[in-house]
Amino acid sequence: MYQDIFSLENKVAIITGGAGGLGKDIAVGLAEFGADVVIADRERLRLEKLKNNANIFGKEVLALEADVTSYKSVEDIVRKTMSEYNRIDILINAAGINIRKPVLELDESEWDNIVNINLKGTYLCCKLIGEVMVSQNYGKIVNFGSVSSVLGHPEHSAYAASKGGVLLFTKVLAMEWAGNNINVNALGPAYINTALTSEYLAKDDNYEKIVKSIPLGRLGSPKDIVGAVIYLSSSASDFVTGTLLMVDGGRTAD
Ligand SMILES: NC(=O)c1ccc[n+]([C@@H]2O[C@H](COP(=O)([O-])OP(=O)(O)OC[C@H]3O[C@@H](n4cnc5c(N)ncnc54)[C@H](O)[C@@H]3O)[C@@H](O)[C@H]2O)c1
Repeated sequence: MYQDIFSLENKVAIITGGAGGLGKDIAVGLAEFGADVVIADRERLRLEKLKNNANIFGKEVLALEADVTSYKSVEDIVRKTMSEYNRIDILINAAGINIRKPVLELDESEWDNIVNINLKGTYLCCKLIGEVMVSQNYGKIVNFGSVSSVLGHPEHSAYAASKGGVLLFTKVLAMEWAGNNINVNALGPAYINTALTSEYLAKDDNYEKIVKSIPLGRLGSPKDIVGAVIYLSSSASDFVTGTLLMVDGGRTAD
């Protein structure tokens, strides 16, 4: 009776940052649960690597070079996806960057870059892809927050501002589109070893310190995130909207 609640058969999913450390595994998970997957990422080399390794998806995927900070580029993602599949059911906004510096050392250009990619990019993708979802009267959106959506980590000023912004933007969209059968939620991961975090984790005793700060006693893994994304992309979460699902090993529980 409930076996199909996580099924994504006949669904079309776009994932931004889909060639990244988490994005790639999420794309594989979405495909394994039945979705047709469109990967949008600005890194041509990472996209090429994925195309050369396309058998990990078990099906054809559309890989698009795109910049989420550019209106035109996001329009292009929508146009190409619609011309290939004629609908868009799921949007995963996983494109993101971070630059760790105390605020007095963070340049204006660095602030702009972080906020543009993490927050404006999420806005543009939600707006232009959400427009299609509203016209279909169906959609599932998963935005990427972080533990930094709710915690004030030093050296994370722009990142935390952008991720806090993603959380409230998510709640507003959940309200605006509640009558359009569109669920809008966010994920709040703690540390996972990807290109975003590897340099920091390799420095001094950062790895040990981070593990100590997580009650479950380990970093997260892409697998931990895939399960949460499938849940928020499928009918299993039809009554869930406007929430931040923490996938953080208990980091924000106390
Ligand atoms: N790894 C973690 O510990 C962690 C924790 C909390 C939240 N997150 C969030 O998860 C998401 C994915 O992070 P990740 O760990 O996979 O990082 P990652 O660096 O491995 O991947 C991010 C991807 O985003 C792409 N990207 C960056 N700017 C872009 C742009 N303008 N247009 C299109 N693509 C762009 C990059 O090319 C890269 O492939 C991010 O939003 C990040 O903030 C990660």
